[in-house]
Amino acid sequence: MNNEKITNSKILIIDDDVNMMDILSVILKKYGHIVNTYTEPVSAIEELKNNKYDILIVNYLMTPVNGDRIVELVREFDKEIYIILMSMHKDLAPSIETMQSLDIQAYFEKSTQFDQLIMFIQTGIKYIEQLRKIKNMKLQLEQYLIDFAQILLNTVGAKDNYTEKHSIRVTRLSLYFANYLTLDKKDIETLNLAASFHDIGKIGIPDKILLKEDKLTDEEFDQIKFHPTLGANILRVSNIFKDVCPIIESHHERYDGKGYPNKLKGEEIPYLARLLTICDSFDAIVAKRPYKEAKTIEYALEEINRGKGSQFDKNLAEKFITMVNENKSEIEKILSNV
Ligand SMILES: [Fe+2]
Ligand SMILES: [Fe+2]
Repeated sequence: MNNEKITNSKILIIDDDVNMMDILSVILKKYGHIVNTYTEPVSAIEELKNNKYDILIVNYLMTPVNGDRIVELVREFDKEIYIILMSMHKDLAPSIETMQSLDIQAYFEKSTQFDQLIMFIQTGIKYIEQLRKIKNMKLQLEQYLIDFAQILLNTVGAKDNYTEKHSIRVTRLSLYFANYLTLDKKDIETLNLAASFHDIGKIGIPDKILLKEDKLTDEEFDQIKFHPTLGANILRVSNIFKDVCPIIESHHERYDGKGYPNKLKGEEIPYLARLLTICDSFDAIVAKRPYKEAKTIEYALEEINRGKGSQFDKNLAEKFITMVNENKSEIEKILSNV
């Protein structure tokens, strides 16, 4: 995110009065701003969708679409742009309610001095700079929290190298699968965090169980079963993990309701958790552990196939199998380069 001062703000003007727009454009360019003008709202909105602008100056009364309707459409996809509405005369000014509901920051009368408009633009630039600073600080804070979670995971890794490497492989597999399924950006970001930290709760499992090389007793396995809840509880302290925690908590649930910790069934299990479970199990099968040999990809796919509808979401399991079969060399790379 850009944190530097805006020297040349990008301004888009929409007005059906070409002469007025030309005058405005010349003045604003003299102040060093980058100005684009449009008489036609549809192409102006298209331009705003495709390119980031700092300030929008729009005439209130126009045919066939009024300025307030244009602002309404722009606000659907851009909440940040600083909007100045203008009209010929104060009798034709929009109501305060319209200004507030559409988050229009300033109103300018064409009949008054242009100095006032320049002032509004300077205020707009300061507003946008502040907004970017706040956004930047928020992003930085989020990154600190993610780094901190990574430190916690590394402490698990310092004792149990498997969990660290397994988490990396599961994250890569999950993201590969999510892209294959063309999930949206937000889901991919959530899944990235959930997969990276899905076993972070193992930090709370005693070493003698976590590092045991023999088969676990039932009592020991009962303790292992706490790790999804422990993991979700660790990350729940921060709001940035709010969508991630339910996925971490559910990554050992089974589609038939026989999983743990909450015995969720079918679609009660979050979609991203159902997806993560398949990648998690696939990696656990192919990985070599002290108590078991590494299995082939083909064997792991047979296991996933056997578990569809019982352990796994049938639809997702089938898609996963097709994906791996279609992209075997890529999957082998994901599994081996850790
Ligand atoms: Fe796990
Ligand atoms: Fe895992």
